[in-house]
Amino acid sequence: MVAMHIDILTLFPDSINAVMKESILGRAQRNDVIRIEAHQIRDYTKNKQMQVDDYPYGGGQGMLMQVQPLYDCWADVCRQAGRRLHTIFLSAAGKRFTQADAIRLKETQERFILVCGHYEGVDERFIEECVDEEISVGDFVLTGGELPAMTVADAVCRLVPGVLADASCFKDESHYSGLLEYPQYSRPENWHDMHVPPVLLSGNHAAIARWQRKEALRRTRERRPDMLEGFQLSKLDRQLLEELDRESSPTGERETN
Ligand SMILES: C[S@@+](CC[C@H](N)C(=O)[O-])C[C@H]1O[C@@H](n2cnc3c(N)ncnc32)[C@H](O)[C@@H]1O
Repeated sequence: MVAMHIDILTLFPDSINAVMKESILGRAQRNDVIRIEAHQIRDYTKNKQMQVDDYPYGGGQGMLMQVQPLYDCWADVCRQAGRRLHTIFLSAAGKRFTQADAIRLKETQERFILVCGHYEGVDERFIEECVDEEISVGDFVLTGGELPAMTVADAVCRLVPGVLADASCFKDESHYSGLLEYPQYSRPENWHDMHVPPVLLSGNHAAIARWQRKEALRRTRERRPDMLEGFQLSKLDRQLLEELDRESSPTGERETN
């Protein structure tokens, strides 16, 4: 049995497979660590034209995904799983997705369903009957739920043991620890006259860790001050923030090593 199984209900399974079978998630699927399965909603239509959408009652722009094929597809996946699966509808009107949601889903679910809307969305009765939560990937509107579904699947699956080389690969990253990640550099040491900060070449692990923490705090405070509100600052964090204050005062200097 795989450690995480995600079923994606969509009108465009090829677009899901084209992305999810590649790179790190593709390898994890070939190694049977995770499974991401795209199900074609259109296969469940009962009309000759295989139509999945219709005009919304009451008028309005565009078409709506009909409840019947969507429900039958959902019910078939639950039947295959042998139980009613936790179901998420990707929606611009949903609750904003965060790293905390990715961690929650990884910890509470072994298998769940992601439903991709298209056109103007889906018949509300499907949501009422089958959906446990509605998730938005941001305050903007996309043409379909495929990119949001892949975003959620990717964020959850990379937390599953065996997908990345080591848990530290994601624990040190932006958002996981509550801070944005510090800047990183690779070879060459000098590029376009821009030098890698000398401390990173020093081999002094304590000094490197201190520099990285300070840069993470600097970045978070500059770019996402909201993230620092309610963040549990350690004694060292407070010291580093004071150093940053001194450096940014008119007489202070930015530390480069
Ligand atoms: C054009 S959108 C429909 C927008 C909908 N009429 C509204 O105003 O909320 C089509 C589908 O794309 C997906 N979608 C669009 N934007 C999204 C977002 N920010 N987050 C998650 N899903 C989104 C949803 O599945 C939605 O049903």
